[in-house]
Amino acid sequence: QADERESMYLVSEYAKGYFEDVLWNTEPGKAVGLTYFKERGFTDETIKSFGLGYSPDEWETFTKEALAQGYQLEFLEKTGLTIVKENAASPTGRKQFDRFKGRVMFPIQSMSGRVLGFGGRILTNDKKAAKYLNSPESAIYHKSKVLYGIYHAKQTIAKEDNCYLVEGYTDVIQFHQRGIENVVASSGTALTPEQIRLIHRLTNNITVLFDGDAAGLRASVRGIDLILEQGMNVKVCAFPEGEDPDSFAKANSLDAIKQYLEEHAKDFIRFKASMLMEEAKDDPIRKADTIRDIVNSISKIPDRIQREVYVQECSRIMDISEEVLFNTLAQIGRKEI
Ligand code: CTP
Ligand code: MN
Ligand code: MN
Ligand code: MN
Ligand code: MN
Repeated sequence: QADERESMYLVSEYAKGYFEDVLWNTEPGKAVGLTYFKERGFTDETIKSFGLGYSPDEWETFTKEALAQGYQLEFLEKTGLTIVKENAASPTGRKQFDRFKGRVMFPIQSMSGRVLGFGGRILTNDKKAAKYLNSPESAIYHKSKVLYGIYHAKQTIAKEDNCYLVEGYTDVIQFHQRGIENVVASSGTALTPEQIRLIHRLTNNITVLFDGDAAGLRASVRGIDLILEQGMNVKVCAFPEGEDPDSFAKANSLDAIKQYLEEHAKDFIRFKASMLMEEAKDDPIRKADTIRDIVNSISKIPDRIQREVYVQECSRIMDISEEVLFNTLAQIGRKEI
């Protein structure tokens, strides 16, 4: 329903402004939230530009204020900003809680700038609580169709004809602050075809930047075939162990970051072939699996000439004849175009 969605947009917009107001104009907001963002190296301008905020560390302060402003509980609940639970002891028979209690807030915006949802980061190092809490799926927030930062990045992606894809909110923000604005985040979820299409509307080139941890890398490599399937050009770049684009950008100048990206961004198929062959080393069974895996990636590429070039490349990298690779490619059975 259009009306319901409009009401959800309006309450989300209001919440963004409320959390910003708390951040800039209240004692806890300044002492806790703003201090946190400053420690991460964000300037006032950056914090304002991304609409970052703070949700009071109280059970229902936000919800009560929203209700007092005339927003309805129905839409607070549908956007997930408020959690409503049955409670026999309460006069109304239920109790309401602010979902993002005590968290710093990252509004998630659509391509056109509408507020769809939020990510909220915990400030303590409590290992039991989730580091980030996100808005639930709703009529306006479909996490598989959203890229964090797309509103801020779209013009530069088109202008530079390239998009950097990172994992997290703060990676996007820190890159921006350093002057690299063509960057969006998948926000920790597996990449989807819809997310890739959002980028594809603006450019044919993606550079995927991995956090420097092996687990993340293995998981992300699987999603990249989806980019090849759309006929886009993919490069990948890993950061040093223990670093992510945020921490790396915070510690380095714009020139140093650009230099790192230039030196370490590799063609995806080459990168994957080298990485998997290194891992399979002297194990013939794993080597065979690796070859099938790579050929499977190559088979996703719509352009026939590109596929041929990659077969030649991979034949060298993996030390296996082109003939075997072409036969495997034919078995996988992509129609020649
Ligand atoms: N994420 C999430 N829930 C978690 C952990 C991560 O939704 N419990 C998402 C967030 O969007 C996060 C992204 O996955 O930004 C990447 O995760 P990670 O690399 O662990 O976090 P960072 O973005 O590096 O966060 P920070 O620097 O604040 O620790
Ligand atoms: Mn294209
Ligand atoms: Mn990570
Ligand atoms: Mn990270
Ligand atoms: Mn990080």
